Amino acid sequence: MFDTAEAYNAGRPEIALGQAARADGRPVLLASKFAPFPYRVSTAQFASALDKTLERLGRDCLGLYYLHFPYSVRGVGTWMTAMAGAVKAGKIRAVGISNCTGAQMRKAAGVLARYGVPLAASQVHHSLLHRKPETDGVLEACRRMDVALVAYRPLGGGAISAGSLAGPGRSALAGTLAEVAATRNATAAQVALAWLLKRDDHVIAIPGATRPEHVRENAGALLLELSEEELAAIDRVSAPAPAR
Ligand SMILES: NC(=O)c1ccc[n+]([C@@H]2O[C@H](COP(=O)([O-])OP(=O)(O)OC[C@H]3O[C@@H](n4cnc5c(N)ncnc54)[C@H](OP(=O)(O)O)[C@@H]3O)[C@@H](O)[C@H]2O)c1
Repeated sequence: MFDTAEAYNAGRPEIALGQAARADGRPVLLASKFAPFPYRVSTAQFASALDKTLERLGRDCLGLYYLHFPYSVRGVGTWMTAMAGAVKAGKIRAVGISNCTGAQMRKAAGVLARYGVPLAASQVHHSLLHRKPETDGVLEACRRMDVALVAYRPLGGGAISAGSLAGPGRSALAGTLAEVAATRNATAAQVALAWLLKRDDHVIAIPGATRPEHVRENAGALLLELSEEELAAIDRVSAPAPAR
């Protein structure tokens, strides 16, 4: 699964991803996002944005299409109705939302359900440095509704893998990650990703990487099964944020 968005770099990553997927030829799931900018108020604008994304990707159908964020003059429900229409039209296969709360997930799923479309994914910031989804109801909603929690920025934007975490309490985390990594002949990035995947079966991490060696290294996290003791040691130095 490759994740992109129309809002990233004026759509250029969509063009690059489409070209790369065609050149490689292997089946891939491409995910992109609709940005409900303030000037976007109608389902016709939604349809036009999706068509442009498909054009840039060079595809007739997109594997997964997200509402990028909920901040919009139109509610989440309006955009979910448009999403359901796009599923029925065969332009997208699955629907997701991003940067949304548990309540917004329930609202989205309720509107989609009217059209017989499930909510497939909820993409939120989730990492050892940002554990909010574990306490704000998003992970819980994913479990209850059987929705994938797609964890973005899972390496803290690169801070975790750099091994030199700055900030209060972070040196303990860096030390523990390095320790676990050393005993497992792994890297801190792999341990951080393996920790994330162990949160719940619903969690899928989407690490960003521009270097092929980073992609290979991160894929290696799938083979790293952390023990309960290792998970507990990491948890001790990375407490989740208290519920609000
Ligand atoms: N929905 C949203 O609002 C939202 C917001 C932010 C991000 N996202 C999505 O989430 C994806 C990932 O987030 P992100 O890129 O912001 O943060 P990230 O995945 O936490 O970190 C990416 C950074 O980590 C480095 N890195 C990756 N693997 C590494 C490794 N094994 N060792 C050392 N460094 C490593 C990368 O370096 P190199 O580039 O040198 O490989 C890059 O600088 C994005 O690509 C985007 O698709 C979504």
